[in-house]
Formats: sequence, C-alpha cells, structure tokens
Amino acid sequence: MKFGYFDDAAQEYVITTPRTPLPWINYLGNKDFFSLISNTGGGYSFYKDAKLLRLTRYRYNSVPYDSNGKYFYIQDSDTVWNPAWQPTKTELDSYECRHGLGYSRFTASKNGVRSELLSFVPLNDTCEIQRIVLTNEGSEAKSLRLYSYVEWCLWNASDDCENFQRNLSTGEVEIEGSVIYHKTEYRERRNHYAVRAVNVPVDGFDTIRSEFIGFYNGPDAPQAILDGGCTGSVCSGWSPIAAQQINVDLEPGQSRSFIFVLAYIENPENEKWAEGTQPRDGIINKVRAKELLARYQTDEQVEGVFTELKSYWKELLKKYTLRSSNDKVNRMVNIWNQYQCMITFNMSRSASYYESGIGRGMGFRDSCQDLLGFVHLIPERARERIIDIASTQFQNGSAYHQYQPLTKKGNAGIGSGFNDDPLWLIAAVSAYTRETGDYSILDEIVPFDNDMSVAQPLMEHLKRSLDFTVTHKGPHGLPLIGRADWNDCLNLNCFSEHPGESFQTFGPSEGPVAESVFIGGMFVKYGEEYAQLAEIHGDRDEADRARAEVEKMNEAVCTAGWDGEWFVRAYDAYGNKVGSHECEDGQIYIEPQGFCVLAGCGVKEGLADKALSSVEKLLDTKYGICILYPAYKSYHLELGEISSYPPGYKENGGIFCHNNPWVSIAETVCGHGDRAFEVYKKTCPAYTEEISEIHRTEPYVYCQMVAGKEAKYFGEGKNSWLTGTAAWTFCDISQYILGIMPTHKGLSIDPCIPSDFGDFEIDRTFRGVVYHIHVTNPEHVQKGVRQLLADGVMIDGNVIPFSPDKKEVDVQVVMG
Ligand code: BGC
Ligand code: NOJ
Repeated sequence: MKFGYFDDAAQEYVITTPRTPLPWINYLGNKDFFSLISNTGGGYSFYKDAKLLRLTRYRYNSVPYDSNGKYFYIQDSDTVWNPAWQPTKTELDSYECRHGLGYSRFTASKNGVRSELLSFVPLNDTCEIQRIVLTNEGSEAKSLRLYSYVEWCLWNASDDCENFQRNLSTGEVEIEGSVIYHKTEYRERRNHYAVRAVNVPVDGFDTIRSEFIGFYNGPDAPQAILDGGCTGSVCSGWSPIAAQQINVDLEPGQSRSFIFVLAYIENPENEKWAEGTQPRDGIINKVRAKELLARYQTDEQVEGVFTELKSYWKELLKKYTLRSSNDKVNRMVNIWNQYQCMITFNMSRSASYYESGIGRGMGFRDSCQDLLGFVHLIPERARERIIDIASTQFQNGSAYHQYQPLTKKGNAGIGSGFNDDPLWLIAAVSAYTRETGDYSILDEIVPFDNDMSVAQPLMEHLKRSLDFTVTHKGPHGLPLIGRADWNDCLNLNCFSEHPGESFQTFGPSEGPVAESVFIGGMFVKYGEEYAQLAEIHGDRDEADRARAEVEKMNEAVCTAGWDGEWFVRAYDAYGNKVGSHECEDGQIYIEPQGFCVLAGCGVKEGLADKALSSVEKLLDTKYGICILYPAYKSYHLELGEISSYPPGYKENGGIFCHNNPWVSIAETVCGHGDRAFEVYKKTCPAYTEEISEIHRTEPYVYCQMVAGKEAKYFGEGKNSWLTGTAAWTFCDISQYILGIMPTHKGLSIDPCIPSDFGDFEIDRTFRGVVYHIHVTNPEHVQKGVRQLLADGVMIDGNVIPFSPDKKEVDVQVVMG
C-alpha cells in the first residue's frame, strides 16, 4: 500500500494523507541552520549542533508520537484547523504534503479556506522561512484568525530535558512589534538569541506557554484560541514560547500571504547589547536580526531565495544523472539517494526522528563513510570534513569514536578503541583524492587530538591508521577488535553483567586475543588504497611495505578467517570462533562475506563465490539480507550488545541495510549483475514504496534496519534517514552496478548490470569535466566492456585517462 507518490519532474515525494504509518520527515537546511519537518508539521530547528544550539523543543517518543513543531492554527468560526493536520487533527477537506529538496510544502483546505504553507531554509541565512498563503475559495466573506506557535528550547537540548530546577527560572524574551526575541541565557555566557517574526502587524501575542496553551491543555487545544485570542503574556522563567495572532478578513476569492521567520542571530562579544545601553539594562542588540528580517518582507524576496534554493539543488544533482528505462532506479540515483547522502553528510547520526540529537555527535567511521557518497557533490566540503576528522585522531593512529561538530573536539565520554575507525580515514581520503585529483591534501598539516604542537601531514595520519592495524593483531594474525568494529554491538571484550553499563565503553578498550575478520577485509581493501596513495606521494618503499602487509592479512583472512563455506566473523576473548557453523546461534554474519569479497579476498580461489552463495542460502529474505543467522536467543556475556536484542532486530538478525550494498558490490566483483541488482532492489525505497504499510518508514529514503526473518514483525523498517546505507548504496549503484568509478588515473567504466537492464546513459561530472556516457549491451551480458570510445578514440582497458583541457567528453561503451 502507498501513502503518496513520486513526482519526479518536480523532484518531490507527494504524501496524500497525514495518516502515514510513521512521521515521514524531511530536512531543511544545507550548512548551518537546520530544521526537521514531518508531514504533519512536527519537527524542530537548530544551529550547527543539535545538542548545544537547539532553538525549538521537541518531545521524542512522546504521546502522541510526533509531538511539537512550528505550528499554525487557522480559526474559522468554531473550527480550528492546522495546515499540516497536527496538532488539532481536525479533519481536512483536502491535504497534500510535498517533500522536496530542502523544502516542504503543505496544501490543505477546510470549509472553503485553502492554505498553502511553504517551509525552507534559504541558502545563505541562518533562518527558516515559513510562508503561508490563505485563500477564501468560498462565496462568503471570511473573518479568520491565524495563529503561529513555537516552543523554545533553552539551547542545550540535553540540559533542557533534565535540569528543571534551574531551567524553569531562566526563560527570558523581548517583544517588539511583530518580533519575539528568545534571549534565554543571553545575559551570561551566550552571544546568541533566536527570533520569531512575521512580516505584518500582529493582533496579539503570547510568550508564556501556559497562557497560550493552557495549563491543562495540549497544543491540540490551545486555551487562548478557545478563549478568543492571545493574552499578551510576557514570559519570565517557566517555558517561553512565541505565539502570534493575526486577524485575517478575506473576501471571496481573496488571498493573503504571511511570511514567518525563525532565525538564529549571533553578536560579537563587544556588540552584545543595544547601542547606548548597559548590560545591566538587559536589552539585546537587535541590529543583525533586523537586517536579516528585512530580507524576508515580501513575496518577491521569498520567491527569489526559494528559486535560488531550487536551482542550487538542480545544479548539484546534475553531477550524476542517469537515463535508463527503469524509473525507479533513475529517481533514486538522480534525486533521492544523492539527497540522502547530503543529509547524512550534514547530520552524521546526530538528529533525526530516531537520533535525538543529544547523544552522538559526528561519528568518526560514520562521517568517513558518509563522505563516500557525498564527495562528488561538494568536494571542498568533503576536504574540510576530512581535516576535521583527522584532527581528532590520536598519535598512535586510533581515534575518538565521535566528535562534536561545534567544537570539533573528540567526545571523551566514549573515547577510542573501535578498531575499524582508523582504516575508514584511508577510505575517505582515497575517495576524495580519486574524485578530485587534489593530492595537496596529503601534505596538509593536521593535528593529533586537536593539538597543533604534534601536527603531521595528512599522509602521516594515514600511515598511522594503517600501522594501528599492523601493530594490533591477535593470535591468528587478524586485527584485534577492541571495543567493537563496524558492528558496534559485537563487544567481545566487554563482559557486561549489570544494567546501565554501556556496551561500548564498559570493560577494557583492548583485549589480548579477540579478533575481527571484518577489519581484516577492510585492511585488504584500504591497505591497497593506502599503497596507491603512497605511490602517488612518491614513496614506493612505503607502498611495497603496505602491499606486503596486505598480502599477510589476505592470507590470514583466507585461512584463519575461513570457515569452509563462508568467512568467519571474529574470534572472541576465549579464542572461539564467532560466525561459524560450529556455533549454535550466529553461525554466519553478513559483514565479512560482503566486505572480504568486495576487497577481493578469496575471489581467485573460489572462496568468494562460496561465501556469496551461503549468504543467499542462509541470510537472504524477500526484504533484504539479514545481518546474521540464526539470531541469538539468549544473552551472551562474551558477545555483548548484539545478543541483547530480541531475535530479528537490529544487529541481532535484523536486515541491516548498511551492509546489503556490500554484498551487492561483492556480487559485482564476481561479475553477477543479476544478483547484484536483486540485492540492490530489495532495500531500495523506490521499490519498498509499494509495501509502505509493512515497511512504515519514508519511501524516499533508506532506513537503518528492517526487522529480519526471525523478528515478530518481519519487514518493518526502523531508524530512517541517518544511516551509512545512503552512501554505500550510492557507491553500489553508481560505481559498481552502473560502473562509473573515479580512479587516480581517470574515470573507470565497468558496469555490472542485470542482463535485461537495457541500454542507458549517464552524465557524470568528474574533476570539472562532463562525461556523457552511452552504454549499450547488445548481447545482454552482465559484465564486460567490449569497446570503449572517448571522443571517438579507442581506449584500452576500462579507464578513460583524465584530460583537464576538455570540458566535455563523449563516451561510447559497448558491453559484451
Ligand atoms: C545500536 C547501534 C549503534 C550503537 C551506537 C547500538 O545500540 O544498535 O546500531 O551504532 O548503539 O552506540
Ligand atoms: C550504527 C552506527 O552509526 C554505525 O557506526 C555502526 O556501524 C552500525 N550502527 C552497526 O552497529
């Protein structure tokens, strides 16, 4: 069952009922100011950091589920309704929500009044614009009241939901005309405030929550609206809000538009207070707010920045454009998958409807992987991110597992010890340099643990990443796992027996024997990518040394890491195998099958094919490939969090979407185009749209996990949006299945497609040059290029050498 449809021409997903199986959300904002917005008007806003600079309050896992947003109420005689249905849930005569790239639009009507609400964050200001147009579509004049409502968060979102003894006494606002200033904590250590404004005179306002909503009501029935209007309350402590009232008379056929702005304003320390006043007067300097608001007073101004936003996205996504006979793949590749890659790059795992924005900041491994799907879009931002990430690395090559985007410092609370982390840095730098050809980044001087006095060139950071694995091996010559590897829940050194002990940080960060075959596979792949970088950097000996280490690791993976029919997952702290036919539960895991094969381990020897058939036989389902099988039925002290989940969920046998593309990529490495595509399709949102009532999460983006075959609710998706699945599926489809891969020497063309995929065309911007690629497949093969012509010149092999003097290149590919 569907709850909407794709409008590809408009690059939008159109939701046709507010009653979706879960809130279906969108992200507004590209750089610093961000808002989450659901199809029923829920969500919240923050500046840069969802934890430390939260503007508006949200109640996670609340009742009703999607609680709080930047709401509007329309009062028409006795009827009060919302343009996005919540929170009053008054039945609407019509409803439509269009989630687009960086904006959402809601069109609704009730009793002859139509409202069109457009929400977006402009490209170059720290604010969200909400323009609402009300139209009287009936034959009688209407006297309406329009109310706006936002509830302020007291900046630190974590403290905001904990420290009530203080927070209920700190709220402060200023009100000037149609503008409400939220200046809580400005008197002390903050130099920023938030603003809620509208471009017309208001007929009333409230800033005390209990005065507007009523002490015994919720936002579904604000007391002030029921009682006939705002009360003019001025908050001091408790819960500051910004509510505004506008009386709107509309003749039949008449429309009026209102521009609401929610902004974040920062003042330099010496310009904190209004000119001519003292700090003790407490009057904030509003100059910057007024300058910003002046830019959003008219419809023309709003249209102007909105058009800019739309063209920005159109241009950006053009960098990879597919034209094939498969609409579903076209729309994922051209629109939604790339869009999600941008969002995951911006957010890491911080703020979604499932990540509260107060827990994890930016993950080291997460951000490195997100970059793989983003680097072609805005390489300069990828470069900056690489430097930020590398700056949190420790001198021995290990790394803080997470860092806060605002301070860019590592999170000491979780520390390091996730032994896959260092290698992801190589993956990121390799992808960046292959995409851009900018090798100057390797010489960039980058601190360790943010300490400039011990800074070293980035290339040295990569060396330490590599050497961290080389020097942290266990008894089988495989990498020590530490606290966990990619699978945060495989905690082989943790041994947690009491509630409240974090699986990730309890117990030693290092154990003497527990090893990860998965990191072994990573080392084979990224060790080779490091060797290529070393060579380009002019250090042949180092490249040879790295390749010799890779060889050793490959050997260990294919021997100690081989179980007979598939790759072992790990060795635990007792030296026992994890992910082996010898185990009762957890006999086979997806990660080493996907990653070791995509790294090339055992391909020649036939191990890869065996591993992939075992995946198909034991892990595959109609909704995707489970992470392991059989799921653990009881808690295993020696395995940690993985066995804490009920069977079929999350890391205990769920369909973890992130590593499905690894298997798909592995299939392309072995030349199996049909199977690679089948794996791609199973978790692909454009395909799962049809089963939205089962899948439940947004049909335009990937979710982290779909409940596996052993789960009670098989097929149910969870944790949408912020998942490494976005980047990895984009790599899978764009670089491996469609086969357009940036390499150091040039663009490689090597599709691995299903035999019935048909011919296709791709426009790919690579290092500023646009490649127009036409692929034909007359013999319906799955892999293999029979002929490759670049501007009419025959190319030997698969790589079109990069020539910077060209602007466009015509590429003709014949498979066979
Ligand atoms: C989740 C993982 C996540 C980890 C982060 C676990 O509970 O299952 O998916 O990466 O927490 O700390
Ligand atoms: C989600 C985390 O963000 C990611 O880093 C991890 O690899 C997966 N969970 C698997 O545990």
